[in-house]
Amino acid sequence: MIDRYQSRCQVRVNEALQGLFVAPTPELARLYEAMRYSVMNGGKRVRPLLAYAACETLGGEPELANGAACAVELIHAYSLVHDDLPAMDDDDLRRGQPTTHKAFDEACAILAGDGLQSLAFTALLDPQLSPQQDATRLLMVQALALAAGPAGMVGGQAIDLGSVGLKLDQKALEYMHRHKTGALIEASVKLGALASGRADASELKALQAYAQAIGLAFQVQDDILDVESDTATLGKRQGADIARDKPTYPALLGLDAAKAYALELRDLALHALRPFGEGAEPLRDLARYIVDRRN
Ligand code: IPE
Ligand code: IPE
Ligand code: MG
Ligand code: MG
Ligand code: MG
Repeated sequence: MIDRYQSRCQVRVNEALQGLFVAPTPELARLYEAMRYSVMNGGKRVRPLLAYAACETLGGEPELANGAACAVELIHAYSLVHDDLPAMDDDDLRRGQPTTHKAFDEACAILAGDGLQSLAFTALLDPQLSPQQDATRLLMVQALALAAGPAGMVGGQAIDLGSVGLKLDQKALEYMHRHKTGALIEASVKLGALASGRADASELKALQAYAQAIGLAFQVQDDILDVESDTATLGKRQGADIARDKPTYPALLGLDAAKAYALELRDLALHALRPFGEGAEPLRDLARYIVDRRN
């Protein structure tokens, strides 16, 4: 069920993304190619899926969330390009292919990441992709800017890089994960809900509780997979966190307790969806998928 939903959403977001990488002049062909390379290279598209599913939960047509779906995936892709740089995690494999700075060069990867971040906002404000009223679009832009920036993903990444080799306690680790990964996942759900044009305050609150739980679960599972998956399945180097002495949930709690924690967070997320009926089934499936996934 999730497979079919996932492929449908992947096709929808990939079609919308495809058109965004057309270089306005031949001099910029390489930069645009690096951006395209960093986005159109597979990827599970979990954040776009969440945006579509949140929109549908509130009764909106999924196409209404095209701008939101593109925007969150573009921010995510930018974060990965920079995360893989030598100055950060120094990784050479991403989605089964050389990382952007390996396929191009470091300066090009930095600029491609910068470009993808800006493209996220232009996509979100493209009236074809986001047909909402301006007041709604403003709320969407604000939520995305907050989640991507120093109070969200960038802040979490700063803590991550400042914590290498340190032993964080669970509170500090949770703070880091909620920011570096959770914030954008939370924004994906919020943008999708706003895109429906039908979100009321209590629905937004319930969806936020759901998103916070799966946002943390997503990174806990990412940490678990670094320990027990393999490079071919992951499409990125297995064991990279261990090699770099990164603070992770399995390192702090042990593998079994980390797995139990991920399941607890999944249940918390499912509980938060109680007010919603059938329409929230894709969100429920996604919560299960996030902790069951193997890559
Ligand atoms: C990996 O994200 C980086 C994290 C925030 C944990 P994904 O697991 O969603 O990566 P892709 O997009 O499928 O490659
Ligand atoms: C990345 O976390 C979070 C981002 C904001 C990109 P990781 O460093 O754990 O992601 P992977 O494991 O390289 O995909
Ligand atoms: Mg990292
Ligand atoms: Mg990394
Ligand atoms: Mg990781």
